[in-house]
This record gives sequence, C-alpha cells and structure tokens, in this order.
Amino acid sequence: MSIYEELESNVRSYCRSFPVSFTKAKMSKMYTDDGGEYLDFFNGAGALNYGHNNDYIKARIIEYIENDFISHALDLHTAAKEEFLRTYRDKILRPRGYNYKIMFCGPTGTNAVEAALKLSRKVTKRTGIFALTGSFHGMTLGSLSITSGKTPRAGAGQPLYGTTFIPHPHFHPEIDTIAYMEELMTDEYSGVEKPAAVFIETVQAEGGVIILSEKFMRDLRALCDRQGVLLVVDDIQVGCGRTGKFFSFERAGIVPDMVVQSKSISGYGLPMSLLLIKPEHDIWSPAEHNGTFRGNQMAFVAAKAALEYREMYNLDQKTYENEALIRTFVTERLLPMDKNLEYRGIGLIHGVDFGRVKIEDAAGKVGRECFKNGLVIERAGRKDCVLKIMPALTIERGELIRGLEIIESAMKKVLG
Ligand SMILES: Cc1ncc(COP(=O)(O)O)c(C=O)c1O
Repeated sequence: MSIYEELESNVRSYCRSFPVSFTKAKMSKMYTDDGGEYLDFFNGAGALNYGHNNDYIKARIIEYIENDFISHALDLHTAAKEEFLRTYRDKILRPRGYNYKIMFCGPTGTNAVEAALKLSRKVTKRTGIFALTGSFHGMTLGSLSITSGKTPRAGAGQPLYGTTFIPHPHFHPEIDTIAYMEELMTDEYSGVEKPAAVFIETVQAEGGVIILSEKFMRDLRALCDRQGVLLVVDDIQVGCGRTGKFFSFERAGIVPDMVVQSKSISGYGLPMSLLLIKPEHDIWSPAEHNGTFRGNQMAFVAAKAALEYREMYNLDQKTYENEALIRTFVTERLLPMDKNLEYRGIGLIHGVDFGRVKIEDAAGKVGRECFKNGLVIERAGRKDCVLKIMPALTIERGELIRGLEIIESAMKKVLG
C-alpha cells in the first residue's frame, strides 16, 4: 500500500488519473522518479500558462527569496505588491482603457468567486444570481451554489440556494436565452426575483470546452445594463491569455462589472487570486472580506514577471498560431476517425467530445492510453466525455505536434 493510500484522504483526485510520482518539470515536460518523461497537456488545470519552472519568472522569485525580501505580509504594503500593481496597471489595465480596482482575495479561485458573490449582493441589495447550466466556479458553498454539476453540489451536504440556472445557449440554440433571462427578470409572474448578477465563464472549461459567442456576450452585457444587473466574468481558467488575448471576454469587446482571476495570474503555479471591480462598485468596508493569505509576496513577484514575459515573447501571437495548428490537426486527422466526434476550441483550450461515440467511456480510454504513451491530458464535461487539450502557452511547436500525435494513435487504438 502506498503512503497515499495509507494516509491521504480519499478526496485526492487528479493523482488517480496519473498514478506516478513526479519529481521534476520544465516548461511542457514532466519527469517521474523512475525516469519517465511526459508531455503536459493539462497544465496544472490552467495554472501553468507560462510552463513549469519558467526560467524568467523563476529567476525573479529566487532573487527575491535570496535577498530576504518580505515573505509573508498579510495585506500590508510591500515593494512586491506595489510593483505588481503598477505593472498590472501599466501593462493590462491602461492599454485597454479599463478602470478597475483590484481586490486581493484568499489564495484560491473559489475565494475570489465568494468575494464577487458577496459584493454583487451588497451593491445591488438583491440576493439571487443567474448562472448558465454547465458552469463551474469552485468548491466552497457560495461557488458551489452557482456551479451546476450534481456531484460537486451534492458534496455541500446542505441545500444550495439562490441561483437560477439558465439553459446554456450552446445546447439550446432554439431558445433566445437573452430574451428568456429578461422575461425572468421582468415578468412579475416569473416566480424569479431580479438577480444581483449574472456569472459567466466565456468558455466553460470544466463544463467541457463550451464557448460563448461574441454576440451572446455583447447581448448579455446590454441586458445587464438595461436591467441594472451586474455582469461577472469568471476568468479563472480561461483568462491570462488562454484564449489569445489576456482576458477571455476581450474578443467580444465587453467590459464586465467584475472579473475573477486566479490560476495562471501568478505565472508560476503559486496560489493567488484577485477580483477586478468597477470603482463605483468597490463599496467594501475595510476587512469585510479578510484573510491571512491575501498577500502572497512570491506570487506578486512571479505575477509581475509573468506579465513582462508574455509581452516579451508575444504569447498572444504564438497562441493564435498554435490554435490554428491544433484546429487543422483535429479537423483533418482526429475527427474523420468517427462521425460522432464533436470538436470545440479557441486559443489554447480545445475539446474533443466523445459524448456521442458508441464505445463506452471512449474519452477515458483515450486519456489513459495517452498517459501510457507519455501525455498528461485530462477530461471534462458531462460524464467526463470531453478530452481537454490545454497545453502551456509557451509550448514548442514540435512538442505540440508530438502530443497531438499521441492523441491520434490513442484514438486509433480505442476507436479501431
Ligand atoms: C472557472 C473556474 N472557476 C473557479 C475555479 C475554482 O478555483 P480554485 O480551484 O482555485 O478554487 C476553477 C477551478 O478549476 C475554475 O475553472
């Protein structure tokens, strides 16, 4: 029996899909203690957009630690925090003409989602929330209440109130979702109170790579403006350049009232989350959403370096080139294997959907076969039927092709 089986709680999860012991990692490669080498198409669930142990970012963290610069500081003012804020303002906010206040939350994404929920309610003095079916926002109670999956919701062990789930437009093109939401918000016989906010992921990542159209996002922005409802974008997994531009909603030209960021914001896999808030909504009282770990100094240093790195290496452009490569590969070499396969993708998040394929657990079988052949890749969506291709934005072209070829041979084996 391994030490994990002996001691670690049953709640452990990803290690069950990849049952080896990893020791080292560099950019898109991971290594095990018994000499194994893996390509990483999972990317720490989106926390490693700049690759594992990115040298540029690493050098700044080492320098910081070696100089005994402050390591823990609660939310005191520090040089690291100041430099991060200045860099974020100059490289991200100002060039886009965005006017946001920045709130540092507890280190996990779900903590920033909780903050967004609390603040939406405080600002509007309403309690309800609209979210789309298929959404995932985290595992704490508030975040679970706007998460639609039955299994994570059941884990709450108590009723989860307050959210109206709206059919996702991707699965219901026959419904005018915007009109439906507006009717719920305005019809006094709808049985639904006007919500404080609508929470969206522009691409549902855990939901199976389900992409909102630019038109939908624009129409939703207009609806929220008409109705005085806040629009909150959870950019935790598909922000930080994952879809090409830094924010995933930029492609639609909308500006949300609040934006949640985490995962790759620190650039090095270090825990960090933040909430962008339009200044008129920043009505928190001091310490109203407090916490011990809201000022991860190493993460500030890494996050600043990451913003420099993405610019120096023109990661947006590289992402568009790699997006085209994946699209061509999937369309020409994977989809012809079975007419029931479906495919969705944008930037560097792509999903091959086995949901209609006649073989049981086909995506699971392909994922396991990929891992046997040296590729770390996860699944998402209903019944985990979507193989999620999510490499680091820094991946080399050759590595990307090699990973796709591993998927191709695994699919050939499973689909016959
Ligand atoms: C869109 C989205 N929101 C929220 C979360 C929760 O973040 P964390 O796991 O850091 O709490 C995740 C995590 O996968 C996510 O993908």
